[in-house]
Amino acid sequence: MSGTLRLFFAASVPLELLESLQERLAHLRSAFPQARWTAPANQHLTLKFLGATPEDRLEDVLITGADVARGKRGAAVWLSGLGAFPNARRARVLWLGVEDPAGVLTGLAKGLSDALEALGFAAEARAFTPHLTLARFKSPVKLPSELGPGGAGLAPFEVSEVGLWRSHLSPKGARYELLESLRLGRVDSGPRG
Ligand code: 2AM
Repeated sequence: MSGTLRLFFAASVPLELLESLQERLAHLRSAFPQARWTAPANQHLTLKFLGATPEDRLEDVLITGADVARGKRGAAVWLSGLGAFPNARRARVLWLGVEDPAGVLTGLAKGLSDALEALGFAAEARAFTPHLTLARFKSPVKLPSELGPGGAGLAPFEVSEVGLWRSHLSPKGARYELLESLRLGRVDSGPRG
């Protein structure tokens, strides 16, 4: 049997952080009940979206992803303020920014995009903005000018691995399944066999 898998690479944010974020977003959830809010378990930092991928490409994708991950050094990042795509006057996506001073997320996104392009996966045309999608609006909304602190001031966390995820779409929304965790190569927490 051969089909396709909807795949993407993403870094994860510790669940405790995502949960503490929930309280800080309560005012926005009540202001925009019509939005589709993402559950903490579904929130991640997308690095590369592959879309529908023939099952028989999975192994190559994994090998390529593991290679890219091995060549990168883990580093600390932290959540920051709220933003919107395409902009706050006609928001379709409400997101939380991420500070990435060592460029670990940007480096992974570029490394994955370049390596996968060589396998035939189209490179992302838009510039990479590391973000956590919080809500999606079917019709664009005007967001208030004061959105609150978002994730500012929450603890930094280490990006030490990249997940290869499969997205299962259904009328109830997407469900994400972790297929493989790929460890970054030069992580400070010590050598691995
Ligand atoms: P997002 O975090 O910006 O929303 C799984 O579907 C993830 O892949 C989503 O979190 C989404 O990123 C991203 N994604 C979905 N469809 C996409 C597309 N057509 N192009 C780029 N990224 C996409």
